[in-house]
Amino acid sequence: MSSDFDLTGKVCVVTGAGRGIGRGMAEGLARHGATVVLSGRTRVTLEETAAAIGERAVVVTADVSKEADVLALRDAVLERCGRIDVLVNNAGVNAIFKGIERTSLAEWQDIIDVNLTGVFLCCKYLGGAIGEGGSVINVSSVAGHGGLLRSGPYCASKGGVEMFTKSLALDWAKRKVRVNTLAPGWVDTDLTHGLLEHDVHGKRLLDRTPLGRFATPLDMAGGVVFLASDASAFMTGQSLVIAGGWGAE
Ligand SMILES: NC(=O)c1ccc[n+]([C@@H]2O[C@H](COP(=O)([O-])OP(=O)(O)OC[C@H]3O[C@@H](n4cnc5c(N)ncnc54)[C@H](OP(=O)(O)O)[C@@H]3O)[C@@H](O)[C@H]2O)c1
Repeated sequence: MSSDFDLTGKVCVVTGAGRGIGRGMAEGLARHGATVVLSGRTRVTLEETAAAIGERAVVVTADVSKEADVLALRDAVLERCGRIDVLVNNAGVNAIFKGIERTSLAEWQDIIDVNLTGVFLCCKYLGGAIGEGGSVINVSSVAGHGGLLRSGPYCASKGGVEMFTKSLALDWAKRKVRVNTLAPGWVDTDLTHGLLEHDVHGKRLLDRTPLGRFATPLDMAGGVVFLASDASAFMTGQSLVIAGGWGAE
């Protein structure tokens, strides 16, 4: 029986696919039949994800904040896979939790460079190579919908991703390329583990998560498969929040 969620024959590029949410999403896309291009800066972790996925995984290293790297990534994908159908802009960082009085310009710039400029560059070069019927999924955050304490640069970057996505969805509707965000709540990964384990802060975040647990990366897989596939064919310029009820009250 055919399924609207089937991704057989599709080429999906996932940035930040070596660990965490990106790895969970890449595994989900591959389980639904996609060829998955795994990208990130660290080859060894990408190879680990590739080994878990099997023969439909392709590894290409790139730093999304560097224009030359993103151009080379696009060229490598087109050479090795012949096409791009889905782009998942997942690579992201958040190195700091502090007020802006103690935040340096360099710290602000590092977060904006990866989380926002990286999305711009990947959309421009890889998204620009996607054909009719394709899909771009920009990973934002609940921090792109509401403020978090001591997270100004991160919230600004994710809020920027949300609005950039809406604007691009309007521009690319005529190309029949859809552009949406997937906005996770709290997911236990290298990025967040220290915070989520914290006696006070972790408990506070858990108390605000109605489903009563933090997500695993695989909790994001169903959402990305939905946004990548024909199951969401009439959806563009929207945000799919997967957050265990965070923000519902
Ligand atoms: N965890 C959460 O609770 C949560 C919640 C909401 C949103 N998010 C978002 O979800 C995404 C993934 O987060 P995560 O929790 O899975 O983080 P993570 O475990 O730290 O993984 C981040 C990934 O991004 C890659 N990356 C970082 N900088 C990069 C760069 N300049 N170029 C290319 N790749 C880069 C990393 O690989 P390399 O270091 O090898 O390059 C890694 O694979 C991020 O956009 C994050 O903001 C996370």
